[in-house]
Amino acid sequence: MRIAVYPGTFDPLTNGHLDIIRRGARLFDRVLVAVLENEGKSPVFSVAERMELISRCTRDVDAVEVHSFKGLLVDFMRRVNATVVVRGIRAVSDYEYELQMALMNRELYDGAETIFMLPAVEYTYVSSRLVKEVFRLGGDISSLVPGPVLEALKASSLGR
Ligand code: PNS
Repeated sequence: MRIAVYPGTFDPLTNGHLDIIRRGARLFDRVLVAVLENEGKSPVFSVAERMELISRCTRDVDAVEVHSFKGLLVDFMRRVNATVVVRGIRAVSDYEYELQMALMNRELYDGAETIFMLPAVEYTYVSSRLVKEVFRLGGDISSLVPGPVLEALKASSLGR
């Protein structure tokens, strides 16, 4: 059984993330979406809220499970017997940071292989950070996030 982990902050989930999750689910038996518990980044949504949103938006994808983790990603991977890290790469600018993380994770855990996946072209510029900024400033992000995420943003501190 091939178990992949798709780790991230997901504050919040975007259509770009969802696209990568769906593509990953076609390749692996199980895709564990793993939300990093890192309150240091002053997130808009709590870890529990982010997990709930991801669960609601991936209900139709059987292979997907939603988890959270603290500490090193490789320690989480060992605990859940995952051997693959899935990461989405949008532009070349993502590559340097992703390369460093992938090589560090492999140094820490030889069993960890990172697979870089490309999102659908229409999501190559979408990030959680920009989505929040555009939403906060009154822009229309309805084509960039799943419906439940848009509703949650309206009810969040950014929507008031
Ligand atoms: O969505 P993000 O914020 O780009 O995701 C980054 C994430 C969560 C994948 C990364 O920060 C991570 O794996 N953090 C856990 C701590 C860790 O393992 N650090 C060493 C990996 S290089």
